[in-house]
Amino acid sequence: MAQSLIRGRLLTFHAEPQGLDDHASYSYEEDGAVLVEDGIIIARGSFAEVSAKAASDHGVVDHRPHLIVPGFIDAHAHFPQMQVIASYGAELLDWLNNYTFPEETNFHDTQHGRRIARLFLNEMLRHGTTTVAAYCSVHKESAEAFFAEADSRNMCVVAGKVMMDRNAPPMLTDTPQTSYDDTKALIAAWHGKGRLHYAVTPRFAITSSPEQMEMAGALMREFPDLHMQTHLSENHAEIAYTQELYPDAPDYTGIYEHYGLLGPKALLGHCIHLSEREADALSDTRSVAVFCPTSNLFLGSGLFDYQRYRRRGKPLRIASATDVGGGTSYSMLRTMDEGYKVIALNGEKLNPLASFWQITRGNAEALSLAERVGTLEVGSDADLVVLDARATPVMALRMERVQSLAEELFVLQTLADDRAIVETYVAGEAVKSSL
Ligand code: GUN
Ligand code: ZN
Repeated sequence: MAQSLIRGRLLTFHAEPQGLDDHASYSYEEDGAVLVEDGIIIARGSFAEVSAKAASDHGVVDHRPHLIVPGFIDAHAHFPQMQVIASYGAELLDWLNNYTFPEETNFHDTQHGRRIARLFLNEMLRHGTTTVAAYCSVHKESAEAFFAEADSRNMCVVAGKVMMDRNAPPMLTDTPQTSYDDTKALIAAWHGKGRLHYAVTPRFAITSSPEQMEMAGALMREFPDLHMQTHLSENHAEIAYTQELYPDAPDYTGIYEHYGLLGPKALLGHCIHLSEREADALSDTRSVAVFCPTSNLFLGSGLFDYQRYRRRGKPLRIASATDVGGGTSYSMLRTMDEGYKVIALNGEKLNPLASFWQITRGNAEALSLAERVGTLEVGSDADLVVLDARATPVMALRMERVQSLAEELFVLQTLADDRAIVETYVAGEAVKSSL
């Protein structure tokens, strides 16, 4: 029952900040501390208050003057795409066929999967991300490798093997039955073990036949508490091809709706070109639209209209994500920097408090994990990140003019990357410094 006291400037959100003056949406402690026991936050507040509650033999780590926030959450990334990131010159469908699918064929090899899973989770942690919703390859072995690696680090992750039975190389396809059987075996082996969550993962409608979609729906009926993750409405050519493949569906979203795949734990990557009917269908089912700005810019897919989706009569639940390797950065700070610019191109501004809410509590709520991660609330898992807003000469110089917490957050979002991550804690253990 060893306790540790982690001291620094603490910031945690209670609700989505409605503006820069929305001080009720967060708690900030200039000289704060969290007390951690068995990986759980058991007290949070001023250092004086919290240290008085600590056992006499506790350890102390003093991170002042740095900022301590909940570990970042990445709601959509592809671990087998580490060697695809930065592939030149294609839009979505060519990028998948020319770069991504050939790369993913390597993941039938467990050793390869384990090596890349290790390197992927290292990158996540180096960038301050403690929870990720990850796509594995079609191979059961790739999911085994990913879950084993995440479990060995005691990380809270959501992941699943992709189901894909057509429109991909033969080495990369399963069948409706094998995808069902493999998914079920993976659920039995990994879901609920440690901090692991299984997501039923039909890659997208183009690579799943109607029979496979039925199987995905059957899995969701059998395991209704599971996440479901897929891609939706990313690119015009993708949408047109999808409609050809499913001519009876009212639209792209209607396909997932028809097979019973929408719901509060459905994570739909991209959602850029939704009609009002499709947005209503997501909103009515409380499904989550996942904003992947670096990917959407890199692949030229389009501008996700974050503010329209949030402010419409029936608002959407939104998460944000790197989408590595269509995305170009492992960092949720870089992601929100690009997200800010996408939103600016849509004529709006996302305030920095809302950005930090999004990548912590906002994404935790979107993943239905806010009871455990995304905040510094007492009782939650001690996944933390320590940020230095003066990490580089450029940032240090800019910080000479900064006068408020919101300004500091905006400097971090706009200028920082992994160099600003001083430490990352997973369930109370400092992990970045030992990578
Ligand atoms: N749609 C289907 N698969 C993928 C993928 O791997 N990346 C992106 N960005 N879109 C997809
Ligand atoms: Zn994706």
